[in-house]
Amino acid sequence: MKPVYKRILLKISGEALAGEQGFGLDFDTVVRICESVRKCADMGVEIGIVVGGGNFWRGRSHDKMDRARADHMGMLATVINSLALADGLEQLGVPVRVQTGIAMQEIAEPYIRNKAVRHMEKGRVVVFGCGTGNPFFSTDTAAALRAAEIDADIIFKATNVDGVYDSDPKKNPNAKKFDTLSYLDVLNNGLQVMDSTAASLCMDNNISILVFNLNDPDNIVRAAAGEQAGTIVK
Ligand code: GTP
Repeated sequence: MKPVYKRILLKISGEALAGEQGFGLDFDTVVRICESVRKCADMGVEIGIVVGGGNFWRGRSHDKMDRARADHMGMLATVINSLALADGLEQLGVPVRVQTGIAMQEIAEPYIRNKAVRHMEKGRVVVFGCGTGNPFFSTDTAAALRAAEIDADIIFKATNVDGVYDSDPKKNPNAKKFDTLSYLDVLNNGLQVMDSTAASLCMDNNISILVFNLNDPDNIVRAAAGEQAGTIVK
C-alpha cells in the first residue's frame, strides 16, 4: 500500500491497550497495535504517538482529589503506556524514542520538539508521554498540540467506535454516522470526538482528525493509505 500522508500523529486511548480485561496492559494487544504501526513505518510514514492513560487512571473523574494532583497521576499512567508501546515496537525491530513532557531523564528523553522531528526524519517512531505535561489538559489536547508542533498532516484518533455519530449507536439503533464534520460542528454540537480545547487547537491550526475503530489495528494501515472509512473532522 502507498501512503497518502508523510507524517501522522496517532492518538491511542489507554483503554485500547487493556484488551478484554479492560484494565492495565494486555501485552498481546499492545504488540498487535505495534505490528500495525510497524506496517505504517515500513510504508515510509513518519509516526508520532500520543497515548492516553485511562487503562490505569483518569484524572478528571476523581472528584475527591485535587484535580491537578489527579492529573499528575494520569500523566504518569501515560508514561507506563508509552514505555509499553516502545517495548512492543522495539520487539518488532522498529526504532523508537520516548519523550516525556515532564522531565524524567532516567527513564526517557525530555520532550524537545526539534529532536522529535529529527528522530522521525531518521525513521524512528516517537512516543510522547505525559500528555501536554500540564494538568487540566486531556491527552487529546496533547495529540493536537504535538501534531501542530511536529507539523503532522493529520491526527488519527484510533478509538473504540468506527466514527462519530449524532447519538450513541449503542443506545440508539437509528444513530447516524457522519462521514465528514467541521470543527465547528464538533464544538457547537458537543459531539464526543474530542474535548473543546483539543478541537479548537485543531481548528486554529488546520489539522484534520480522522476518527476510526482500533478493534482491527490494521485500520491504522488502511488509514495511512487513505482507504479507511471513519469520520473526518476538518
Ligand atoms: P541521534 O542523535 O540521531 O544519534 O539520536 P539517538 O537517539 O540515537 O542518540 P542519542 O545519543 O541522543 O540517544 C541514544 C539513546 O539514549 C536513545 O535510546 C535515546 O532514547 C536515549 N536517550 C537520549 N537522551 C536521553 C535522556 O535524556 N534520557 C534517557 N532515559 N534516554 C535518553
